Amino acid sequence: MTKPAGPIPSGFAADDDGMLFIGGRRADSLVAEAGDTPLFVYDLARIDAQVARFHAAFPGVDLHYAVKANPYELVLRHMIGRVDGFDLASGGELDKVLAAGIAPAITSFAGPGKRDAELEAAIRHGVTLNLESEGEAHRALAIAERLGVTPRLAVRVNPDFEIKGSGMRMGGGAKPFGIDAERVPALVRHLLAAGADWQGFHIFAGSQALGPEALIEAQRATLQLAEELAEAIGADLPKLNLGGGFGIPYVHGDQPLEVEPIGAALSERIAARGPRLAGTKFAIELGRWLVGECGVYLTRIVDRKVSKGRTFLVTDGGMQHQLAASGNFGQVIRRNYPVAIADRFDRDPEEDVTIVGCLCTPLDILGDDVMMPRADVGDLVAVFLAGAYGLTASPTAFLSQTQAREIVVGGA
Ligand SMILES: Cc1ncc(COP(=O)(O)O)c(C=O)c1O
Repeated sequence: MTKPAGPIPSGFAADDDGMLFIGGRRADSLVAEAGDTPLFVYDLARIDAQVARFHAAFPGVDLHYAVKANPYELVLRHMIGRVDGFDLASGGELDKVLAAGIAPAITSFAGPGKRDAELEAAIRHGVTLNLESEGEAHRALAIAERLGVTPRLAVRVNPDFEIKGSGMRMGGGAKPFGIDAERVPALVRHLLAAGADWQGFHIFAGSQALGPEALIEAQRATLQLAEELAEAIGADLPKLNLGGGFGIPYVHGDQPLEVEPIGAALSERIAARGPRLAGTKFAIELGRWLVGECGVYLTRIVDRKVSKGRTFLVTDGGMQHQLAASGNFGQVIRRNYPVAIADRFDRDPEEDVTIVGCLCTPLDILGDDVMMPRADVGDLVAVFLAGAYGLTASPTAFLSQTQAREIVVGGA
């Protein structure tokens, strides 16, 4: 039975012969320029549009880019001057931002399981560490003392709430992330007594939320918690990183997130903040919402076959590059991402096909029972929403298949 493909982001069009345009360029010429498929194309102009939309909706709030969403060097470089900070999740991401020419002073490093060598590199470079446990705090202080530097330390708080309806819940209850809220005041007092440069709180309660009300509620709860904790510590709060969680519509029926009402509600709540937050800097950290829609994954059909009446288009790519589109990155029931035949982007669908990758596993599906225009060997398949958690969140070493290429288009 035919299953719907996810919603193609607005603004994509076709050339006169039906070829998909990405960032004003034909998909086939982008493949020629990159050398071959499989290929990720990132349209920087789409990132700019999201950045502009954020700044319009959240005046006065810093925008941080969560590097984990897409650490490709040309994407990182493009973010310089467009965002106010970069959030890292590993020493490897620190290496990548340094290589891209990003000032480490505007980066922060969250994530459980930071090794001593990673803590040391971060402290040496003046990165703000978002501490995930008391043990990590003690190791960071000891390393800083050995180095003879003042560490920049923030505390990641494990709040008692989550973002309702978010695809990934990262707060509320027992979690490997952050320090339980009730233990935070004692730890911060200890950091202050040890002479650390306390940078404030990081409160990240979830990811991939599409309901504005849930995000408004989570941000209100975050400010409330920050006020209570600052009061309990007895110190003014320098910075509050409110996390993010803004989602994008991946599957049929998902609605795009309206960020403007969230910004309006946050401005109101900030205006009513208590005295401990009077001089606080506020930040929101986003990955997926900033870069998800900028990416298109292009893969070529290498075989067309029929099995028991079902047509398969077999491509030279697959879940080794686009795990999320295969349904194996957090989906409980597999649903199709937006997918199209790039060479026939303007044509009406004619046949029900299943688009698979070249891995020898039934998990490797890019489009399951989707209606497509007739396509054949040599044609290009486009998988949309590939800008975030694409190559970086996929098992690229699996079966030692061809590595995907990456290219950017557009942008000033
Ligand atoms: C601490 C932290 N920051 C930022 C993000 C980025 O989330 P998203 O890409 O959904 O905006 C995540 C995602 O898991 C995260 O764990």
